[in-house]
Amino acid sequence: MALRTIIMQDNEILRKVSKPVKIFDKNLTQLLDDMYDTMVTANGCGIAAPQVGVLRQVIIVETNGQKLELINPVITKQSGSQVGVEGCLSVKNINGDVERPYNITVKGFDRYGNEMTLSCCDFLARALCHEIDHLNGTLFTDKMIKGSEKKYSKSTK
Ligand code: CO
Repeated sequence: MALRTIIMQDNEILRKVSKPVKIFDKNLTQLLDDMYDTMVTANGCGIAAPQVGVLRQVIIVETNGQKLELINPVITKQSGSQVGVEGCLSVKNINGDVERPYNITVKGFDRYGNEMTLSCCDFLARALCHEIDHLNGTLFTDKMIKGSEKKYSKSTK
């Protein structure tokens, strides 16, 4: 197990666009395993590679104890909308509401380079949108409904 340092909000790395993974090798496996350990240790439910300083299109989301790894994810369909609270391992002490699609279809690859397509909704769709935004240099605070953070100002994550 190897923990990596989580890059925080004011670091410009988080504003850069990540490149696709081309080689599915041991380095990728190591990155995914380290990202997962780092996320769990920090009590997060999602993480994107730029958050550990790697500008590659790699994300992990965990919901209901189910880990989902996605490489080079692309949202191919989206519909509906939902508004709900978000936070981020790279943004200290702020939680706020963000509008996201309710249903999405995502295409990408698993850690072995196998193509995968996933349709999901609700919290998982929200979490995937949040992580995919990281790959484009976008933070949830960019999209947060103004003033909504006040509702959650007691939470200190
Ligand atoms: Co985040």
